[in-house]
Amino acid sequence: MLKPRLTMWLVATLGLGSTGVVLAAPPPEAVSCAACHGAMGEGLPAANYPRLAGLPANYIAEQLHYFASGERQNVIMSGMAKPLTPAQVKTIADYYAALPVTMAAPAASVSAGLMARGEQLAVYGDWKAGIPACFRCHAAGGVGVPPYFPPLVGQSANYLSDQIIAWQTGTRTGDPQGLMHTVANRMTSSDTQAVVAWLAAQKPEAAVTMAKSEGGAQ
Ligand code: HEC
Ligand code: HEC
Repeated sequence: MLKPRLTMWLVATLGLGSTGVVLAAPPPEAVSCAACHGAMGEGLPAANYPRLAGLPANYIAEQLHYFASGERQNVIMSGMAKPLTPAQVKTIADYYAALPVTMAAPAASVSAGLMARGEQLAVYGDWKAGIPACFRCHAAGGVGVPPYFPPLVGQSANYLSDQIIAWQTGTRTGDPQGLMHTVANRMTSSDTQAVVAWLAAQKPEAAVTMAKSEGGAQ
């Protein structure tokens, strides 16, 4: 075990890749994850496998805990999360949190009206419907606020809407103070479709710049 680890450490730390480019080789704990979440944690939007790159480490660790405990129900991920020890979870979470966000999610095609509604919900919210702006918690640009609020941009529309539906139907729980459960329950299916389409159309890199210039979370 020591030798391959040392080799990977050398590759990762000293950039001893054959191309001379610094390669962050995954730790052994994360090798099986790459099949679905991608070699760089970029995800596979077409198959609803979310990106893990750049997610807050604490958030990743919490989700692995929820998948193992059943608070978040997903057959694939519960099988992946259950055997992990706390030390493995920490290694995995730290690894993915440090990876750069490389890919924007493909845009979903919806009407201009729905896109406008999506932007309204994300940036301003809808106080009549009791829906706070997504950016109020997930930061301006939807880039997330470690340690509790994950990014929303750079995830596919399908993945995002699956999560909102999961909170509405109770197959995803464990969120701090039930915040997302409350938000999700106030959204109609048309609101969900609108906001996820708009979020998926935002470029993560542009959002990072926007968040910086606006001073982060509102
Ligand atoms: C066979 C495919 C597959 C493999 C292998 C896999 N995952 Fe997943 N992963 C998924 C799917 C599908 C979801 C979305 C589940 C849902 O909708 O709740 C997911 C979701 C997640 C999430 C939640 C992300 C978020 O934004 O909330 C984390 C964290 C995660 N996986 C970590 C891992 C880790 C760590 C491994 C390796 C130990 C792994 N996954 C291996 C398919 C996979
Ligand atoms: C009051 C704070 C708050 C607001 C407002 C809010 N969220 Fe969240 N959201 C959270 C928290 C906290 C989590 C992490 C839940 C967890 O740890 O399980 C989260 C997680 C999510 C996730 C899961 C992301 C992933 O990677 O799996 C989605 C999707 C989401 N929120 C969408 C939205 C949308 C869309 C809006 C606006 C309509 C919104 N949120 C508004 C607090 C908020």
